[in-house]
Amino acid sequence: MFQLPSLPYAYDALEPVVGETTMRTHHDKHHKTYVDTLNTLLAEAGRRDETLEEVVRKSDGKLFNNAAQAWNHAFFWESMAPKAQPPEGDLVKAIEAAFGSQAKLKEKFVAEGAGHFASGWVWIVAKEGELKVISTHDAANTLTEEGLTPLLVCDLWEHAYYLDYKNLRKDFLEKWFDGVANWTFAAAQYSAALGKGQAYRYPKPDGQTAPLAKTA
Ligand SMILES: [Fe+2]
Repeated sequence: MFQLPSLPYAYDALEPVVGETTMRTHHDKHHKTYVDTLNTLLAEAGRRDETLEEVVRKSDGKLFNNAAQAWNHAFFWESMAPKAQPPEGDLVKAIEAAFGSQAKLKEKFVAEGAGHFASGWVWIVAKEGELKVISTHDAANTLTEEGLTPLLVCDLWEHAYYLDYKNLRKDFLEKWFDGVANWTFAAAQYSAALGKGQAYRYPKPDGQTAPLAKTA
């Protein structure tokens, strides 16, 4: 069984950029439903002992959608932090090399997310050490493309911002980028992309790896 990861901060910690009600609904209802459905589908299919990353890479249809959405949301919670600090060190150099400046990265990130049609996700990714901004549709994510390491993601589904911003997705993205984007997490992911340390992994399933009981 995969577990719903706890938020790494309080429900109201991202106020006023992301409201407490949004966080409670988003985590406790939307994310939980993806995880619950994922577990049901895996049980029905008799699949066990896989990491969520493996499930995402080896699935399609309904199972892919729920597995990828479970992963994306967990990664999204890590992509935000209260009192977020600006980027430092190697990450700053990579941002300047790819975009010119942090302000230009923001411009590109907001334009990509605001211009993305319907539901999906906007990402900052590293590929062969170079940073890019991309967006993916619906549940699609970076796990299915070889060599991509995600640094940060923002949820573009309306449930992520509608209570706080109504239809103003661009406003949400600007405030998100300036106020809660977790550059400390992004820097760790960038290091992993360069081969230093481990990139984010979803918590392993529990209750499936115990040795079989000995028969008499
Ligand atoms: Fe979401």
